Amino acid sequence: MPAISASAPGKVILFGEHAVVYGQPAIAVPVNQVRARAIVSARPDRPRGWVSLQAPDIGLESSLEELPADNPLSLAISGVFKATNISRIPAMVIRITSTIPIAAGLGSGAAVSVAIIRALSEFLGQPLPDEQVSILAYEVEKLHHGTPSGIDNTVITYEKPVYYVRTPEGEAGQVDRFNVAKPFTILIGDSGVPSPTAVTVGDVRSAWQEKGILYERLFASTGAIVNQARGAIENGDIAALGPLMDENQDLLVKMGVSSAELDHLVRAARQAGAYGAKLSGGGRGGNMIALVPRETAEQIADALISAGATNTIVTEVKN
Ligand code: MEV
Repeated sequence: MPAISASAPGKVILFGEHAVVYGQPAIAVPVNQVRARAIVSARPDRPRGWVSLQAPDIGLESSLEELPADNPLSLAISGVFKATNISRIPAMVIRITSTIPIAAGLGSGAAVSVAIIRALSEFLGQPLPDEQVSILAYEVEKLHHGTPSGIDNTVITYEKPVYYVRTPEGEAGQVDRFNVAKPFTILIGDSGVPSPTAVTVGDVRSAWQEKGILYERLFASTGAIVNQARGAIENGDIAALGPLMDENQDLLVKMGVSSAELDHLVRAARQAGAYGAKLSGGGRGGNMIALVPRETAEQIADALISAGATNTIVTEVKN
């Protein structure tokens, strides 16, 4: 049996992180320059049910049995076994590699889950449809942080720009794949500070519980910005997006999820000629994004590196 391989991209949230957890819309796009990959190979020399996992990037080599049941990789695998209703599991090795930085707001957890779910279900002869891939990956996301909106697994599964609204039950939300009338360029800058999404999502929840109305207003204002941004993207009015990013960043600062490093990179991007800039994802560390002219993207990337970014990616947003 030939080895089966599947991959999934990273992602950035263009507008609306955190507020999306509370029912506001958000816009996210895939980032194809970084990917997670899973390769499943048969091991006919081993007994049925023998499953071995190799994830060299995180120094993991283990049998499935030995992993705790709440390990994200093991949950993705057992989710596929359940969904495919397979009774006799062939012996296999699952190898996972990824170029998506961990705890950086680029969706590495969801991308690893999607790659595993796709490769394994195909290996078992029952490739799952996108909708089910996304739902299974969402179940794993719940481990990474208790109350995920579901936007990461959605954009990473469909690999298209999405306008996303969480359903009240929190299960697979409502997805609109909207039209990007005119492609535009996003520069991603890594602050180099790892920041697990679970922590910032938890902190925003505590602050919302304590200061209810203030946070409700911040979320509602964010939602209004997201809707304006969607209109601008659909109309090809790219000039309008920069100031909207800046406004979204101000709200994220007020939510308490920016950091000195992110603020510094956001300022550096604007000074170097970006139309607008903000943090992206959970915040406090991880990545920021800037809307930049295509022609000067590399120059602005150099300015970010000089300002302390540990890595940059230039990506084009299009349909
Ligand atoms: C994480 O990429 C985005 C957050 O809004 C969390 C979520 O939507 O689950 C911070």
